[in-house]
Amino acid sequence: MVLLLIKEKSNMKYNPLQIRGLKPVIPIIQGGMAVRVSTGKLAGAVAKCNAVGVIGGSGMSVEELKEEISIARKIAEGKGIIAVNIMVAAHDFLELVQACIDEKVELLIAGAGFSMDVFKMTKGTSTAFAPVVSSAKAAKLGLKLGADAIIVEGKEAGGHLGTDRPIREILKEVLEVIDGKVPVIGAGGILHGSDICEILKMGADGVQMATRFVLSDECIVDDKYKQYYLNHSKEDMHVFLSPVGYPGRAIMTKFLQKVENKQIGKFPCKHLCLKSCNRRFCIIEALVSAQAGDVDNGIVFAGERFSEIKDILPVKTIIDNLLEEIKNC
Ligand SMILES: Cc1cc2nc3c(=O)[nH]c(=O)nc-3n(C[C@H](O)[C@H](O)[C@H](O)COP(=O)(O)O)c2cc1C
Repeated sequence: MVLLLIKEKSNMKYNPLQIRGLKPVIPIIQGGMAVRVSTGKLAGAVAKCNAVGVIGGSGMSVEELKEEISIARKIAEGKGIIAVNIMVAAHDFLELVQACIDEKVELLIAGAGFSMDVFKMTKGTSTAFAPVVSSAKAAKLGLKLGADAIIVEGKEAGGHLGTDRPIREILKEVLEVIDGKVPVIGAGGILHGSDICEILKMGADGVQMATRFVLSDECIVDDKYKQYYLNHSKEDMHVFLSPVGYPGRAIMTKFLQKVENKQIGKFPCKHLCLKSCNRRFCIIEALVSAQAGDVDNGIVFAGERFSEIKDILPVKTIIDNLLEEIKNC
């Protein structure tokens, strides 16, 4: 039934995305974005369009995450899939994973690191699991440990990066090692229908897109954050070493400039948000500041192609436009 509805809607020639026993959906995952960039409001709106809406759970308390899941479910009205993304590097990673399992979240996604524990925790539960990887080696390990899908992210992605190689290069290698055993989803720098077609034609089962959804009505970041995207160009893109231990891709801000000029020193840690922090600066405070509109004193994560997006649109329009663009791919 759902399949039929999706087919009617888009007149598509591509296959729906099906992960484990979950309902088939449009092969678009809205990437999880912390801290509080992709919340229940955005994830619910994406799921309502029969795609996969992902709450960025890192930086939320268990109670807050449960509340966001409930908001997303109300908005989605039973359509699509609501998923949660949690960063492995987060101090309370396992606690948040357990909360997702308890809440019977359909799909859990883990980025910024690789955890063996999460495979054991989700096994035999109603929560499917997909790690975000950036190499064929990690994809192979994920498959061996029981992943229900593999998300492959290239250097074009926003946020923390696990590679400096382009998505198309890594995807090819990952598709070879996974060999159709579980769905493979490509992520990083995918903006238009033509990008989606290209990734699907390579053999991927779906795409994950994040940056496009920052510039949606339903993304709850302060308008100054969205305007920062719209008012900067690709020359303002900056990759810095994050306290998490990985490079991070963001738009240059006054704060990041100070970090790079070593004008920001080590600090007394109030949050203990990471398992291991290099104390270069406080990442959680920088992300929260930007999210709330104090972009000068914060970090504005964005994918490599952010400056190609020229408008803030409702999620439904973004997805309808993409479906129109890919209907003949
Ligand atoms: C603002 C922002 C925050 C992000 N936060 C997370 C996160 O918390 N966990 C994660 O695994 N990936 C995170 N990402 C990566 C996205 O989920 C996604 O895989 C990637 O950005 C895809 O590339 P695109 O933005 O070019 O579409 C973030 C990306 C952005 C732009």
